[in-house]
Amino acid sequence: MISTLPAFVPDLLAGLQKRNPLLWLNPALGSALPKDSPGAADIDEAEARLLRCAGLMAHLFPELQSSEGLIESPLTRAERLQQAMGDATEPDAAWFIKSDHALPIAGSVKARGGFHEVLAFAEKLALECGVLAHDGDRRELAGAAARELFAQYTVSVGSTGNLGLSIGVMAAALGFRAVVHMSTDAKGWKKDRLRKCGVQVIEHAGDYAQAVAAGRAQSLADPKGYFVDDENSLMLFLGYAVAARRLANQLAAQKRPVDGTHPLFVYIPCGVGGAPGGITFGLKTLFSEHVHCFFAEPVASPCMLVQLAAGDTAPVSVYDIGLDNRTEADGLAVGQASLLVSRLMRAQLSGVFTVTDAQLYVHLHRVAHTEGMLLEPSAAAGFEGPQWLTRSDEGRAYLRQHGLERHMASATHIVWTTGGSLVPREEHEQFQARGQVLAAQEERA
Ligand SMILES: Cc1ncc(COP(=O)(O)O)c(C=O)c1O
Repeated sequence: MISTLPAFVPDLLAGLQKRNPLLWLNPALGSALPKDSPGAADIDEAEARLLRCAGLMAHLFPELQSSEGLIESPLTRAERLQQAMGDATEPDAAWFIKSDHALPIAGSVKARGGFHEVLAFAEKLALECGVLAHDGDRRELAGAAARELFAQYTVSVGSTGNLGLSIGVMAAALGFRAVVHMSTDAKGWKKDRLRKCGVQVIEHAGDYAQAVAAGRAQSLADPKGYFVDDENSLMLFLGYAVAARRLANQLAAQKRPVDGTHPLFVYIPCGVGGAPGGITFGLKTLFSEHVHCFFAEPVASPCMLVQLAAGDTAPVSVYDIGLDNRTEADGLAVGQASLLVSRLMRAQLSGVFTVTDAQLYVHLHRVAHTEGMLLEPSAAAGFEGPQWLTRSDEGRAYLRQHGLERHMASATHIVWTTGGSLVPREEHEQFQARGQVLAAQEERA
């Protein structure tokens, strides 16, 4: 088992197997992207699609009228959190939270990618069947002819939960038959919510990857089936990447430059890798070496870390190194990273840090008290990021290696929060109660 991982550093392997939280730095950062990788023009296209469909979105979802149909979340200065956790010796560095937990309709980071892919499929189908003209108003996709067409097709997806919510809600709103394949241990409230939206939920024994595989096989057998493939989809990836363009505008509005003397650090929870990978890819096309992206993964499920550290393009899973992929962070409970994404992240990702479930609860409790934000456990994985960078030996080595130490006072740190606004109140109460107990334990220790 372990002998199949030739490039694994023994200390790293031991640390992962002991489930010690750790920061891994990517030795391949800055290497060339694969020749067939997407480019800025592909993100332009995704951005243009979301823009031309904004009127349709506002028509389908009245709650989007104030944003004129755009799905976006605030970038919020997190001063109180920074005071509670930050480093007083760097008074001018600024911490922000990119609040994708509050993204409308789908309530998670999976919204942009999921909506983008369903809209792209709907456009393609309507154009091919003559229901929409190339320059036609996309609101026609909500008209009777389009709905009649879409009703003949099934859009399906395999998901830990939040991608299912995004795809299911969008597909059902356009009149497609929508099917979401989930593992039996996926959160009950997510399944209930989907069923209430008219989405069929199929439960599978086993983990997320098995749910995806079952969904893919069923969809392939259906000539009018369309499968949104979380492990391999470029359309999802490009939809997520659009977030970077929007973030760049928000940073400019907050007067936070990103350049050689103003580094940007971004910390994003990672499951299969599509959402954080797309965001990183988008940010790198805009800010290149001035942005430093780190993924956060549970100690039981560090699938992207394992894939990248193995230094190989053959798939390597967390099970291969003896981990069990069992975590309360359901959105991040993925054993095998997307290879589409890992190939790109090899060149672009600065590193990965791991978090325990207990840390997730402490963070979601702290951020509720300092910033008034209610998150689900997966969404709180990024909060250890600034500390790893500025206070650990590995983090300081990274800063030294990239000549960043003298610019840290003018750095911007962004913790990406990725889900939570649709979680039922009783669940939040349980998360908070658990966080309170664990925070008290941490303080005593
Ligand atoms: C709340 C939350 N955060 C982060 C992620 C990670 O996204 P990805 O699986 O694309 O890496 C997910 C995935 O479902 C999620 O639900």
